Amino acid sequence: MDRQTPTPETQEAPTPEAEEFLADVLAGLAEPPYAIPAKYLYDHHGSELFDRIFELEAYYPTRIELGILRDHGPAIGERVGPRAAVIELGSGSSNKTRILLDSLREPLAYIPVEIAREPLTEAADRIQAAYPGLEVLPVCADYHRELRLPEPTGRPVGHLLYFPGSTLGNFDPEDAEAFLKRLATLAGEGGQLLVGVDLIKDRAVLRRAYDDPEGVTAAFNRNLLDRMQRELDAELDREAFSHRAQFNEELGCIEMHLVSLEAQTLRIGGRDIPFAEGQTILTERSYKYTLDGFAEVATRAGWTVAGLWTDRDQWFSVQLLYL
Ligand code: TRP
Repeated sequence: MDRQTPTPETQEAPTPEAEEFLADVLAGLAEPPYAIPAKYLYDHHGSELFDRIFELEAYYPTRIELGILRDHGPAIGERVGPRAAVIELGSGSSNKTRILLDSLREPLAYIPVEIAREPLTEAADRIQAAYPGLEVLPVCADYHRELRLPEPTGRPVGHLLYFPGSTLGNFDPEDAEAFLKRLATLAGEGGQLLVGVDLIKDRAVLRRAYDDPEGVTAAFNRNLLDRMQRELDAELDREAFSHRAQFNEELGCIEMHLVSLEAQTLRIGGRDIPFAEGQTILTERSYKYTLDGFAEVATRAGWTVAGLWTDRDQWFSVQLLYL
């Protein structure tokens, strides 16, 4: 007898990544206050939007930090001293590297550490072409984990860790301290750290930097909803959420939220998740420091602030720490 085999429902097995994403989303939405780990903002599309944030007029840290590095380059170079090996953590496309290298006296080596291989290799090639005498040793790794760094052949006088931007702000102060301790071990004796530290300022300026008029940061945040629909088959109406940036006075950080515009129920991974109108999901925090507050954290981690440069309005600081 001619029997037709029914085509089985082809359901793709979830990848381990999707399973972890689902588990983290369900854990974060198990009870209010809802929160989803920030790392899920950075898929391919999210990373593209994220790169655009740095070029926004409203996102002042990029512009101000570059201005500080430009205006105070000679002083920074003087304080760091000659023949340093520069280790940049999360170097991306090494956009803030040249301005530092140009300020230093006879830098011996440049060791960019970056998890995304393609930008890393391209940036390393560009830097090598521009600085033929410099030993460029790219390391493809996640700097949140333990790192083994290559030894330059040129016998540097010391290691200068470079951590620009306001990335340190994404750690809460306790984790920032633990991270700075790790960096102390990594830098070794005589090591130094040049770090960008964003400062507490007018709340409206802060909010605008994380909720720009062009809507790029909003798109970056809302991309998380698209990911949940696409990768977790979440049933949700993305239009029923909006982006909000607010300053948490108690914690001293800017928070990004997705705000539910109406009472609604999301269905994710077989679970119903109720939202009241105005209820939010926290997606990212960015801590802002006072100069004293940061010095305290650095000191607890074993560092001494040896150089401090800011803009006129004290919106942002570049700090050189010694061990
Ligand atoms: N780490 C930077 C900051 O906190 C950049 C950043 C992280 C960011 N998440 C963001 C910028 C969200 C805008 C929106 O400022």
